[in-house]
Amino acid sequence: MRLTVNGREVELAVEADTPLLWVLRDWLNLTGTKFGCGIGRCGACTVHVDGRALRACTVPVGQVEGQRITTIEGLAAAADHPVQRAWIAEQVPQCGYCQPGMVMAAAALLAENPDPSEDEIDASITNLCRCGTYPRIRRAIRRAAGGD
Ligand code: FES
Ligand code: FES
Repeated sequence: MRLTVNGREVELAVEADTPLLWVLRDWLNLTGTKFGCGIGRCGACTVHVDGRALRACTVPVGQVEGQRITTIEGLAAAADHPVQRAWIAEQVPQCGYCQPGMVMAAAALLAENPDPSEDEIDASITNLCRCGTYPRIRRAIRRAAGGD
C-alpha cells in the first residue's frame, strides 16, 4: 500500500481494511491523531484526506490510497496554522485529548468556508469535548476567520 502522509510517500505492508487511524498511530507513529470512540462519533481521530475532514477510525486505509492524508503533525510545518495560532490566543484546550481532532475539523471548515457563522460552526464541528471547551472553540474559529 502506497500512502501520501504529510507530504511524504510511504509504502506499507498493511491490509487494505485496516483502519487509517491504526496505520497513522501504530505504523507511522503519528500519535497526535487520537483514538476516542472508534465508531466515528467523537472526532478525536479527525484528519484531512484531500483537504476534507474525515474520521480516521472508520476509514479503511485501502480507501485513501493515492489521496493526500494530512494529520495534525503535518497541518503546518511550524505548528503556526491560523487555527493553531487562534487556539493558543484563546487558550482553548483543557485536558487536550480532543484538541488535535478539533483543530483539524476547524481547519477543514475554514478552508471550505473562510467566514463561518456561529450556526455554521456548530453544524460543522460535531466533534465531542468532554471538558466542554466549545465556547472557546467557537471563539478561536471566529478569530482564525478574522472575525474578532
Ligand atoms: S475515535 Fe474516531 S470518531 Fe471517535
Ligand atoms: S479538552 Fe478535554 S476532551 Fe476536549
